[in-house]
Amino acid sequence: MILDTALWSSLPVPALMLDGDDLIISSNPAAESFLNMSSKSLTGQRIWEKVMIDAPLEEPFDRARKNRSSLFVNDVNVGSGERAPMMCNLQFAPLQGSEEVMIVMISPREIASRVNQHHSSEKAAKSAIGMAEMLAHEIKNPLAGITGAAQLLSMGLSTEDQEMTDLIVEESRRIVKLLEQVEQFGNLRPPLLKAVNIHDILDRARQSASVGFGAHMLYIEDYDPSLPQTLADGDQLLQVFLNLLKNASEANKEGGAIRLHTFYDTSLRVRRSDGTQARLPLQIEIIDNGPGLPPEIANDIFEPFVSGKENGTGLGLALVSKLISDGGGWITVDSVPGRTVFRISLPLAPKETEVGEN
Ligand SMILES: Nc1ncnc2c1ncn2[C@@H]1O[C@H](COP(=O)(O)OP(=O)(O)OP(=O)(O)O)[C@@H](O)[C@H]1O
Ligand SMILES: [Mg+2]
Repeated sequence: MILDTALWSSLPVPALMLDGDDLIISSNPAAESFLNMSSKSLTGQRIWEKVMIDAPLEEPFDRARKNRSSLFVNDVNVGSGERAPMMCNLQFAPLQGSEEVMIVMISPREIASRVNQHHSSEKAAKSAIGMAEMLAHEIKNPLAGITGAAQLLSMGLSTEDQEMTDLIVEESRRIVKLLEQVEQFGNLRPPLLKAVNIHDILDRARQSASVGFGAHMLYIEDYDPSLPQTLADGDQLLQVFLNLLKNASEANKEGGAIRLHTFYDTSLRVRRSDGTQARLPLQIEIIDNGPGLPPEIANDIFEPFVSGKENGTGLGLALVSKLISDGGGWITVDSVPGRTVFRISLPLAPKETEVGEN
């Protein structure tokens, strides 16, 4: 119990404990300073009256309490009568060993963005890509000139010197290939959302991985066959899975394993930048048992041009993150040596779409 109290008051994240009627039973010091209210003025009050959250959460919260499940809500403004609202991520979780008590944790975005950097970095990624696209365009023309000149030169040269011109041509081709990848990134079409079967797409990705770049890996399917269809762009989703399988294969030597895990989890709700809320109950995890993310880049892997590989362009995960967020999904990563999990959360396909498609 002493430990519990110490833990509660040391927690650097603002946290509240609520009883079955949403009354605040306890607040930690971080919550008191965040809300700018004393524990006395908080205790016994309904959370919804003391803490202003600009999203209708009472109902999903009640459901989470009933199911004893946790609920994540991102990007909501949280304030109190005593402080201006601030963009936060919220987590609601049932207190173990109790039937009704819930814990609410409020992570202001400065903290949250460190934990979950990729979404706040989307803008930065866009401008980095925009810049690179412009450069790509500018570099390709002179590069074609250089390659052409080297080829002309090589005609009059001895075999030994030809090695040099060959090198120029070869390296220029490599640069052109990289530039084309950058350009392709900038030219992504908007997603064409349809009801699709996740397992079909996972199977296609696994098949092409297992005859190509991922032939040395063992694949373990751990599917929930009752999973309903998702609303997504099937081709883009395939690209996402292929990129993740490719990274997992590249991180592993012979004998590495990739587990493809699908399941249903209703607790995840995200709030999009346009203010709408989305439920993302369909979960796909791609798990490998390799060495894990290199720690020095672990926080930036979704940024373009961040790579831990000698010949990597660092565009794979930037593309994955863009495709997933354009399609209304969510991606996170959790990595320790021996277990790296990329988790994608997707929406359900609405019933109308299936009917409308006949
Ligand atoms: N499953 C994984 N295990 C270990 N490290 C990973 C894994 N997935 C990604 N990484 C790390 O994240 C980096 C960024 O990945 P990303 O796919 O964006 O670029 P890349 O694979 O280096 O290059 P590209 O995909 O453009 O060929 C990788 O270089 C690697 O260091
Ligand atoms: Mg990659």
